[in-house]
Amino acid sequence: MPLVARVFVTRQLVGPALERLATAGYQVDLWEAREPPPRRDLVARARQADALLCTLADPIDAAFLDACPHLRVISSCAVGTDNVDLEAARARGIPVGNTPGVLTDATADLAFALLLAAARRLPQTSAAVLNGEWGPWEPAGFLGHDVAGATLGIVGAGRIGTAVAQRAQGFGMEVLTTTSRGGTPLPSLLERSDFVSLHVPLTPQTRGLIGAEQLARMQPTAILVNTARGPVVDTRALIDALHAGRIAGAALDVTDPEPLPVDHPLLHAPNVLVTPHIGSATPRTRARMAELAVDNVLAGLAGEPLPHPVAP
Ligand code: DGY
Repeated sequence: MPLVARVFVTRQLVGPALERLATAGYQVDLWEAREPPPRRDLVARARQADALLCTLADPIDAAFLDACPHLRVISSCAVGTDNVDLEAARARGIPVGNTPGVLTDATADLAFALLLAAARRLPQTSAAVLNGEWGPWEPAGFLGHDVAGATLGIVGAGRIGTAVAQRAQGFGMEVLTTTSRGGTPLPSLLERSDFVSLHVPLTPQTRGLIGAEQLARMQPTAILVNTARGPVVDTRALIDALHAGRIAGAALDVTDPEPLPVDHPLLHAPNVLVTPHIGSATPRTRARMAELAVDNVLAGLAGEPLPHPVAP
């Protein structure tokens, strides 16, 4: 191993945060390509490193950790850490950090943008204009769903879910929430909501949380919004529910799989709006995430507690 500690950074980040690693005297090995490093490169480069600064697109499992015995810290430039085997890292004494808080507002804004866009059918009506289908104004033309006064069910009222609830209050919505400590039970929330917005982390308990049974409980006029993680929703069940008209639509910033191939049946289901995992995608938010990720690396290499640690 080199005398100077090395940090493998798996993607170019937004803003100047990475400069602080070089300023602190560390050797920065940056993966320059736009695509994530393939597994073989990820292992080959990380096994030379003392610290790993990765993204949610890098799977960090026990086999990877065994192949990288010098790692002293793993810092993920994301709030969700479902790509990291936290228990395996803990067992090897490697602290894991993430970037909570700084992306709350950007993600809540996007969830609300999706809700509004799906409610008022912006993709369909915009496409109609482009396709020359904009005829004379008619009373029953291009009808969507009311948002003001509607009921919003928030599944997972953590930081982002709570920020979505604040936005909903501005629209005069009634807000129902499920939390890990109570709130409205999920079946009742699904039955009563005009919009259901998902904000739970992906864990073994939340994988497939919204499946055929849950979709069947929703109202046929209801819209599902997902800005959390794709596998929280059973994709096949969602496609079936959309085709059968069991729900009115879905607005998804996250999908399973990701990225979604253009010929994937989900993209061709009725009333579905998909964006490419852009919840935190503003320059200020991504730069702040990079700063927090670098803070975690610096603390880990200094042998100090991480400022933003993730517990298994
Ligand atoms: C996260 O941080 O987990 C988001 O999904 C991407 O910013």
